[in-house]
Amino acid sequence: MRERMILPTARLQHGALHLIDQTLLPAEYRIIELTTLEAVCEAIYMLRVRGAPALGVAGAYGLLVAVQETWGDGSWEFHSTVPDDEISSTESLAGFPAGVSMHDLCARLDQAARTIAATRPTAVNLKWAVDRMATVWRGDATTTHSLLADLLDEADAIHREDLDMCRALGAHGAALIPDDAGVLTHCNTGGLATSGYGTALGVVFAAVEAGKQVHVFADETRPLLQGARLTAWECHRGGIPVTVLVEGAAATLLSQGSVSCVIVGADRIAANGDTANKIGTLGVAILAQRYGVPFYVAAPSSTIDPALSDGSAIPIEQRDADEVRHFAGVATAPDGVHAYNPAFDVTPAELIAAIITENGAVRPPYRFG
Ligand code: MRU
Repeated sequence: MRERMILPTARLQHGALHLIDQTLLPAEYRIIELTTLEAVCEAIYMLRVRGAPALGVAGAYGLLVAVQETWGDGSWEFHSTVPDDEISSTESLAGFPAGVSMHDLCARLDQAARTIAATRPTAVNLKWAVDRMATVWRGDATTTHSLLADLLDEADAIHREDLDMCRALGAHGAALIPDDAGVLTHCNTGGLATSGYGTALGVVFAAVEAGKQVHVFADETRPLLQGARLTAWECHRGGIPVTVLVEGAAATLLSQGSVSCVIVGADRIAANGDTANKIGTLGVAILAQRYGVPFYVAAPSSTIDPALSDGSAIPIEQRDADEVRHFAGVATAPDGVHAYNPAFDVTPAELIAAIITENGAVRPPYRFG
């Protein structure tokens, strides 16, 4: 495998959220710098940053962008050095205006938290990260300066822990991949979807790092093509053999016996193991069962929502019908026809052979929480 550097998926530098604009890949690799809450929410909604764990990191840093936008006057800035350094310096916060009250700071954070959390409802990591940040400003900080430092520390911890969780779950999952494996995956679950290593695709990377031969089959993932555009890009740059297929070809591929296992990520896992993931995942799970191929889910524990007893209560994001009727400005269906565009579906736990988290691989029956 070629050298696979950690992708700078979402970073906070000099008061701005720096993201790889994933809507431009694979044609263009561009880092965008977001300095307003509105720009952060637009980037999340438009999938410039996407994938459940990466949404959590972007959401946490997005709260800090909102504060910087409101009171940034050039004399202070949020600046993170994670993941390159263990701890970010908080010296750059010293110039935060003394006249800003704790009350006003917390009110801005509350408002930004509501806005960010509502931007994409299915991936629980976004709400999880925002709620985790909220425990900081509802905690015991006594000065605005110490609160800002604590918020930066917490956002950095979310970022760093995601990298650690992905590496750990990759190692656990790699044990399930045979040598000379064909692995079918859906959507994108690599470095682009996380802090930089990946969940389901991280399992593949870990298996390859352990010396196994793996061939990835990437469902193109209509309508936004995360599989074709992003998974294939990540595998290709990592030197991992990859074949892109339209979703309609998955049944034929599975029936031919060249797939050893299916591995997907998750946007939310209910207490009983029912799993929401990119639309089309359920169909792949049903096909895998039909052809006797194990179907695995890989996700950090931040994707588990123990408050939901089963998948029926998972909110499913409905997206603009034009994503189905157009692609890249070209009509793919006649204007004016109806289009059905749920962004996620729920795979029942009974179809899932194992759920892999940073704590290991668990088999059914699942009981989280
Ligand atoms: O709409 P997206 O691209 O954010 O959907 C992403 C997925 O469904 C991923 O499979 C999931 O978030 C896991 S990412 C590690």
